[in-house]
Amino acid sequence: MPHIVFNNNGELITPSNKDGVDFKFIAKSYNVSEKPKKTEYKIGVSNQTKDFLLTLKDNKENKIVKADKITRVTPVTIVKDALNTYVKHTNANVLFSNTSNFSQKAEPQKEYLKDIEYFVNEFETSNEIQIEIGFGSGRHLLYQAQNNPDVQFIGLEIHTPSIEQVLKQIKILNIRNIIIVNYDARLFMEFIKSNSVGKIFVHFPVPWDKKPHRRVYSNDFIYEAKRVLKFTGTLELRTDSRKYFDFCVELLTNLSSGKIEIDINKDLPISSKYEDRWKKQNKNIYDVTLHSFTIDEEIEPNKDFSFGKINNLIKTFENISQKAVIFDDYFYHIEDFYLIENEKNSGLIQITFGSFNRPLSKYLIIRDGIISYYQGEPIPTSSNIKAHNKMKEILTNDYC
Ligand SMILES: C[S@@+](CC[C@H](N)C(=O)[O-])C[C@H]1O[C@@H](n2cnc3c(N)ncnc32)[C@H](O)[C@@H]1O
Repeated sequence: MPHIVFNNNGELITPSNKDGVDFKFIAKSYNVSEKPKKTEYKIGVSNQTKDFLLTLKDNKENKIVKADKITRVTPVTIVKDALNTYVKHTNANVLFSNTSNFSQKAEPQKEYLKDIEYFVNEFETSNEIQIEIGFGSGRHLLYQAQNNPDVQFIGLEIHTPSIEQVLKQIKILNIRNIIIVNYDARLFMEFIKSNSVGKIFVHFPVPWDKKPHRRVYSNDFIYEAKRVLKFTGTLELRTDSRKYFDFCVELLTNLSSGKIEIDINKDLPISSKYEDRWKKQNKNIYDVTLHSFTIDEEIEPNKDFSFGKINNLIKTFENISQKAVIFDDYFYHIEDFYLIENEKNSGLIQITFGSFNRPLSKYLIIRDGIISYYQGEPIPTSSNIKAHNKMKEILTNDYC
């Protein structure tokens, strides 16, 4: 983590600009608990059009300024620049620094790796979509993409080394119909249009026999998979785990419509890395395929992340509970408060919220009572929206 240790610096004036870096505000931690807590400052900066925070800690012998973890931006050179400019701007006497920008390698271009915002705002295709969940070594995904050039494949994986490997293969094999996303498959389907997917492959998912709630398959997952499947589309599970197979068969047979097909030791034209492993051990391989015959309504995701106004920020800080509030499928946790210096009714609130599978940490920024999400609105998943609505209720409840 880039940081600079220093002493004897001058006061930072905000707003101000030095060498292209904007120093917009300083926010001081506001402690509402009984326990004394060390004072910490968040400095709002903007460099090369990106907004982020620097954390400033004032220890007895020295001070330390570093990147704030939640608002980290890439490339890291942007943050290092801002840290170096901060110490220069305040004439600090630097004792230690790891912010030299010389050895930075350029980020490799990852043309086929997209982030989730791409699916929220840009993704369009007139081709059939097929999705593979947890592609691992990618053997099956690459084979399918090469043999079905008119299909747009989406590969979902959460293991970064597997993603890196498959991206290399995509380049070597010159494949143009795969998009890779590093995102939890249990939350991804929300961003896909109804009736647009021909096949969803879930091959050898982690069985999670001791923690079934972590499995990819659940009632919610099947419901969303069915919504995105076209008429005659299929959701295909292939597994060596009898327990996972039984679990999925039970979930699928609770559906009100659809056809279910079961196979044991079915031969596929391509064998994945895990399949090879289980075959060597003479394990049975089970397939359960759901054929969907419904046409589902298009969903219009609610993207309203607006807030009202806070009339008295300090009173709000004093009245809000800092304990996590947990519901069935989402939560929110209001964690820390900061007051922006020399500005009326202004501050930062550090929050974590959304789904248990992929919690999101962010700051809310309040300027003259008006609340918004610092660095932009969250991804509009249903759990983020539900958590937002609860936080909105709590924050704009007039305590004055
Ligand atoms: C046992 S491996 C199987 C890999 C590959 N399908 C095969 O047959 O060789 C399961 C893969 O699923 C990925 N995975 C687990 N949970 C996931 C999730 N919620 N979303 C996307 N990928 C997931 C893991 O990272 C892992 O690479």
